[in-house]
Amino acid sequence: MTDLKTQTQSAYTQAESQYTQTQSALSFIRGRSSLSPTVGIILGSGLGNFAAQVENAVSIPFCEIPHFPRSTVTGHSGNLILGAIGGVPVAVMQGRVHAYEGYAMPEVTFPTRVLGLLGCRSITVTNAAGGINPSYPSGSLVAISDHINFTGTNAALGSNEPRFAVTNGAGQRFFDMGDAYSPSLRELAKKEAQRQGFPLPEGVYLAVLGPSFETPAEIRAFRTLGADLVGMSTVHEVIAARHMGIDVLGLSLVTNPAAGLSPQPIDHEDVMETGRRVEIQFTRLLTALIPQIADRIPISRPNPNAI
Ligand code: HPA
Repeated sequence: MTDLKTQTQSAYTQAESQYTQTQSALSFIRGRSSLSPTVGIILGSGLGNFAAQVENAVSIPFCEIPHFPRSTVTGHSGNLILGAIGGVPVAVMQGRVHAYEGYAMPEVTFPTRVLGLLGCRSITVTNAAGGINPSYPSGSLVAISDHINFTGTNAALGSNEPRFAVTNGAGQRFFDMGDAYSPSLRELAKKEAQRQGFPLPEGVYLAVLGPSFETPAEIRAFRTLGADLVGMSTVHEVIAARHMGIDVLGLSLVTNPAAGLSPQPIDHEDVMETGRRVEIQFTRLLTALIPQIADRIPISRPNPNAI
């Protein structure tokens, strides 16, 4: 049993070392590419092929970047890709890491911290999700309007590190999550989907720790709580991004009806298969959105944390 003073010191050391570690990851990445990305994209299960859209790509396997966590899940390649989409400098995470892989919060949030410190002022987080709302057929794309963090932990746990702030007023101990998923980015996405001829409904994403899929009783409970989608990722990245002052667009691909809503058992292979089926639609939407997202970023100020 540690006393309070020791606990406080260890929390402080953890935040300090996460920051120090991001600095060595940044120097390594800058040694590979001098690009300053303004838009970040995190690709979820089955959506990694979007990375092929990146022009003049420099692809860096996560395992080569100092302190970067490695993805252990099928369907998450584990590359950081720097390049351009529609003339916009981007950083794409082809794959992510999850708490259910055994990673601690500073590891789960590490890539988001790095994207922000590289210069991203807007991050699009994507995921595969189970559909709780019965109006979403498998294969639907949904814009996340809000989340319920049911993972039992929080990305900002531990002592606060204000140097992660990339915009004025960010990096606080306590920070607002009212518009965690930017209403204006969501509006852009819905308009673009409409222009491309398909609906993009909004929904609340509920995150569980995983890796077991949910029970039907859990899904009934989550529906009562107001959830439309269920998944095992995203919320920690979004909390870290909001702590830093980064705008977020969240897109879910509904890969299966949530537990109990279909007689079929849920299978990770089906999740991947739905990703492949919707790949073209997802790619067209996101490719068209990136220049529009970039246009909304306020005139860039030098990153106060740049080294
Ligand atoms: N539950 C949790 N995570 C998921 C699901 C699901 O049904 N489908 C894809 N990711």
